[in-house]
Amino acid sequence: MKIISSIEELRDQLRGQLRTAFVPTMGNLHEGHLSLMRLAKKHGDPIVASIFVNRLQFGPNEDFDKYPRTFAADVEKLEKEGVYVLFAPTEKDLYPEPQEFRVRPPDDLGNTLEGEFRPGFFTGVTTVVLKLFSCVQPRVAVFGKKDYQQLMIVRNMAKQFALPTEIIAAETWRADDGLALSSRNMYLSTEERAEAPALFKTLNQVADEVRAGHLDIFELEKQAMAQLRGRGWLPDYISIRKRCDLQAPAAGDLAQGEKLVVLAAAKLGGTRLIDNLEI
Ligand code: PAJ
Repeated sequence: MKIISSIEELRDQLRGQLRTAFVPTMGNLHEGHLSLMRLAKKHGDPIVASIFVNRLQFGPNEDFDKYPRTFAADVEKLEKEGVYVLFAPTEKDLYPEPQEFRVRPPDDLGNTLEGEFRPGFFTGVTTVVLKLFSCVQPRVAVFGKKDYQQLMIVRNMAKQFALPTEIIAAETWRADDGLALSSRNMYLSTEERAEAPALFKTLNQVADEVRAGHLDIFELEKQAMAQLRGRGWLPDYISIRKRCDLQAPAAGDLAQGEKLVVLAAAKLGGTRLIDNLEI
């Protein structure tokens, strides 16, 4: 595996490659990330991964400084997956001057759910993803459903800018007890780690209720949030949305069998966890 930090060197290395499959990450790699590499292999060759902790997508009070950086261990894992190039730019490499041009997602998609609680987050994500795409020029790129709204926004961006990159979705990788793997799980204490699967359990309960024909969505969301609060969580949202556009379903949508997803974000102690489940 070649480890490359400069954009110019990356271009030289990938010149002429027409089927590159790309997996962007912020490092601290776990099985979820590695499952993306394996899926990428099915869709292209060579595999290019990136590790870049993107300051643009962190709020002023978020964990940019303490975000786990485990480069040596990450390199070892990517080597084992047969990754051809690891693009690991420094901030100077990727942002040699302040990044003043930004890609701003549309309000209805970018300012709801995660966007409501993390202002500017998705603008940071789409800006870096477009820039990484421009560096790597991949035929396909793989994103996890774990970050459902991010996947949706990147997909819409690729479509609307007519990018030559197909966006592939990977299923969420979970621990045996249901907790979605995340770099932020390492902030959890032992007690919190034992409690953490309650988030996915709650999503399953909500999904079961919807499947059973319980159509008062507002009530279901309210009950689920109250249940988590009762266990000591601080939920930001538990929200049932249409899969196609992440907007709230109208009564008619439900009757017509519109495909839904339930998404949640909640704090457990100092750690903010997100998860979702397609219904
Ligand atoms: P990061 O959180 O490192 O995630 C990188 C990719 O791994 C994303 O597509 C994410 O959805 C996926 N992923 C994370 N946990 C997963 C899990 N348990 N199962 C399946 N996939 C999982 O998301 C980002 O980085 C950044 O926003 C990035 C896209 C790299 C832009 O900076």
